[in-house]
Amino acid sequence: MRKQIVAGNWKMNNGLIQTKSLIVELKQQTKTSNAEVMIAPTFTNLWHAFEATRQDDIEVIAQNMHFAENGAYTGEISAGMLKSLGIQTVILGHSERRAYYNETDEALAKKVSTALENEMRVIFCFGEELSDRKAGKQEDVVKSQLVNALCHLKAQDFKHIVLAYEPVWAIGTGETATPDQAQEMHAFIRNLFRDRYNDEVAENLSILYGGSVKPSNAKEIFSKPDVDGGLIGGASLKAEDFYAIVNAF
Ligand code: PGA
Repeated sequence: MRKQIVAGNWKMNNGLIQTKSLIVELKQQTKTSNAEVMIAPTFTNLWHAFEATRQDDIEVIAQNMHFAENGAYTGEISAGMLKSLGIQTVILGHSERRAYYNETDEALAKKVSTALENEMRVIFCFGEELSDRKAGKQEDVVKSQLVNALCHLKAQDFKHIVLAYEPVWAIGTGETATPDQAQEMHAFIRNLFRDRYNDEVAENLSILYGGSVKPSNAKEIFSKPDVDGGLIGGASLKAEDFYAIVNAF
């Protein structure tokens, strides 16, 4: 049975004071679903968030990391640094990182390997641009992102990988893929891993959908058989909305 996960990507939002108060509000919410709940605050607030949720059913995760173990990379954060705080999971390959910081498939392949070598779990993001979808190339684009960054891994490595399909045209735009569009892509992705690896890898892989998920559309999206949860941006910044999504399973 694969895991259902709802992860909140706070992006570059919330200083320490807002982080403290949002966590207090999150802790007041009631979880009625079996989904694993994760939040990804910015690096500077990871320690506070980790400490403040120690007793709670909330995992604090990181938004990014560098592929090197350490060294002369000013401004960067390593897997070991995250692990030293107790952080076990990292988001890699978010489309904002690809677009604004030129993260290539090649760099992401290295980051994924480094995360796994450090016994971390990865939420790996990918997705097509609007122009790709208009040209009917969404499956080709997604396939090459996944093959280039992940297919050097061994079958057993996928126990530590979660996928997040995030069509770029749906991120922060208010525009969502229809539940059928999400299902179609998620089924395509699962079959890709069935072909490249085996049934076990494919069936155990949690595939999240991301892109303008809100309380009003989460239930329908999560009802699709190959959608195992969501990576939530904007709506994760309000405790009630976030838990409405967590409880949409
Ligand atoms: P959004 O962001 O929910 O604000 O569209 C999703 C994401 O970027 O992970």
